[in-house]
Amino acid sequence: MNPASTCAIIREMEITNLASEIKKQLPAELVNFMQVAGKVAANQGQNLYLVGGVVRDLLLRRTNLDLDLVVEGNAIELAQQLAEINQGKITTYPQFNTAKLQWGKWSVDLATARSETYTKPGALPKVKPSSIESDLSRRDFTINTLAIYLSPSRYGELIDRYEGRNDLEHKLVRILHPKSFTDDATRIWRGLRYEQRLDFQLEQETLQLLKRDIPMLDAISGDRIRYELECILQEERPEQVIRRDEELGVLIKLHPSLKGNGWLAEKFDQARQLSSPNPPPVELYLALLAYHLTDVEIEQLTAYLRLSKSIAQILRDGASIKSKLQLLAYPELRRSHIYRLLQGYSQSAIIANSLATGSAIARRHMETFLRTLRYVKPALTGDDLIRMGITSGLQIKEVLNLLHEARLDGKVTTKQGEVELVKGWMGEVT
Ligand code: CTP
Repeated sequence: MNPASTCAIIREMEITNLASEIKKQLPAELVNFMQVAGKVAANQGQNLYLVGGVVRDLLLRRTNLDLDLVVEGNAIELAQQLAEINQGKITTYPQFNTAKLQWGKWSVDLATARSETYTKPGALPKVKPSSIESDLSRRDFTINTLAIYLSPSRYGELIDRYEGRNDLEHKLVRILHPKSFTDDATRIWRGLRYEQRLDFQLEQETLQLLKRDIPMLDAISGDRIRYELECILQEERPEQVIRRDEELGVLIKLHPSLKGNGWLAEKFDQARQLSSPNPPPVELYLALLAYHLTDVEIEQLTAYLRLSKSIAQILRDGASIKSKLQLLAYPELRRSHIYRLLQGYSQSAIIANSLATGSAIARRHMETFLRTLRYVKPALTGDDLIRMGITSGLQIKEVLNLLHEARLDGKVTTKQGEVELVKGWMGEVT
């Protein structure tokens, strides 16, 4: 027997207790909550477990406060009891037998242990209540199958049925069985996301199966693919995932014209600098990702992903502004002209263009618009103009527009100045 496999057996025999890690890494309030929850569940004769990403991240010492609890019993009933104890509020999802519990600044997801069967590739699975063992066996990757007992008698004990810990140590993303990607091809997107987020590698067979099953993505609805894309764009470095998606022939499934190249990486990085300390909004990343698409291609992507009206509009705005970049690059542009070129467009579309354009002048004009011009308004209102004797609605509109333009171009800076300007114009007319 070689030393490596001996080591694996010893590890299997060992009972790993993570109670002290939990205490060290998670806030006391959450630790206290889990201990109480374990006791309450035990009093109802139910076993409770901490599962999935948070356990994985506990072992990796990565911050993760998204607690996912699984109960062998009834998650909604347990959530109701815990809500009373914590004076929290719950949202229940009876069709999935899950609940979200929120109190103070905390939020925890509770699910009833369940098994899943896939009737046909791409379809959502049929679920039924089950044991923790089956619940773990339906999961995507070994590193996500780790669980921790929360029941008082075994509090903190690690459950590792698929050698997830071993894969964590070897930095591997591995599926549980060869049909995993055919059952649910969204795992293709997920696998690459974990690989890049954690700086892991797809295990060799997993990689082969992933490549083999890429065509299975055709059976997945646009809504589910959009969700996966949104998850990618919420990663710390989405461009790395997108680059890898392109490398393996997955990005092409989204749209053949999308690219995960150095340009995108540079622009995403600039977007982060601009938004710092917050991450950029997903729609800004999306506008940059779709920046080189034609109008027709934007419509194809929008239809495929069933993008919301507002997000689709951002992509269209992006393309429309792009077609005006030559005008925006003109150095002598009056401020009122910049305003006219950019008014009405969404902020993310303007920012995407300002990051994407090679023209420093166009960029400066877009920045000026975002920083100041879009907020410039005349001080006089329609009512003021009526009081000054302008009665026709059309004229009022025209005068307000002229005042706006004068304000934008700095020809007038005070309300009194505006009054004088209007009087002057009135004098010209009479
Ligand atoms: N899961 C799965 N197949 C999917 C989606 C999810 O098997 N297509 C499983 C995974 O094992 C995961 C769990 O469901 O651990 C919850 O999924 P999700 O909410 O996406 O993961 P989190 O752990 O909450 O977040 P993350 O792993 O991104 O940190």
